[in-house]
Amino acid sequence: MLDILIKRRSVRKYKAKAIEPELIEHLKEAAVRSPTSRNFRPWRFLFITDKDKLEALSRAKTSGSSFLKGASLGVVVCADEHESDVWIEDCSIASIILQLTGQSLGLGSCWIQIRKRVHSDAQTAEEYVQGVLGLPVNLRVESITAFGYPDEEKPPIPKTELEYNKIISA
Ligand SMILES: Cc1cc2nc3c(=O)[nH]c(=O)nc-3n(C[C@H](O)[C@H](O)[C@H](O)COP(=O)(O)O)c2cc1C
Repeated sequence: MLDILIKRRSVRKYKAKAIEPELIEHLKEAAVRSPTSRNFRPWRFLFITDKDKLEALSRAKTSGSSFLKGASLGVVVCADEHESDVWIEDCSIASIILQLTGQSLGLGSCWIQIRKRVHSDAQTAEEYVQGVLGLPVNLRVESITAFGYPDEEKPPIPKTELEYNKIISA
């Protein structure tokens, strides 16, 4: 696990190569194995490989989402807010589990924040994504995770740059 954590970096450039169906199945299993508060499992995951939909979703924000159009897969992580008061935590845990599973499978990935972000003066990024995918308003969108075979190399963060000072002895 530490090796996966050391090697994981946000990858935003992807090869034009489809992700094999069995790898997508691994990601799906990882998503629904994520732990949730009181085991309520409020999340929903939309696995999107359709290029037109990925392109539309890549316009969710004015910055920080455009690379989704070059991804082979986007996983929209959302939850029914009425099913758990801590759906944000549950979705965040699922998102990072998806990323780490992707890393273990040789895939690059990057989190795209949707909740609390804007699409335009008139629309939130969340409303935009709900509109593109036809989601009901009770399905709150936390993030989209972009996946693909990496087309950029990013070295691990050197251990000397890690902020061990953030660990407070108590
Ligand atoms: C909650 C969260 C939201 C993020 N949102 C975005 C985003 O919208 N767009 C983006 O390009 N990267 C996003 N990232 C990726 C971060 O920019 C990245 O993790 C950070 O710069 C550290 O780099 P690393 O992942 O390579 O270690 C997000 C990461 C997290 C954890």
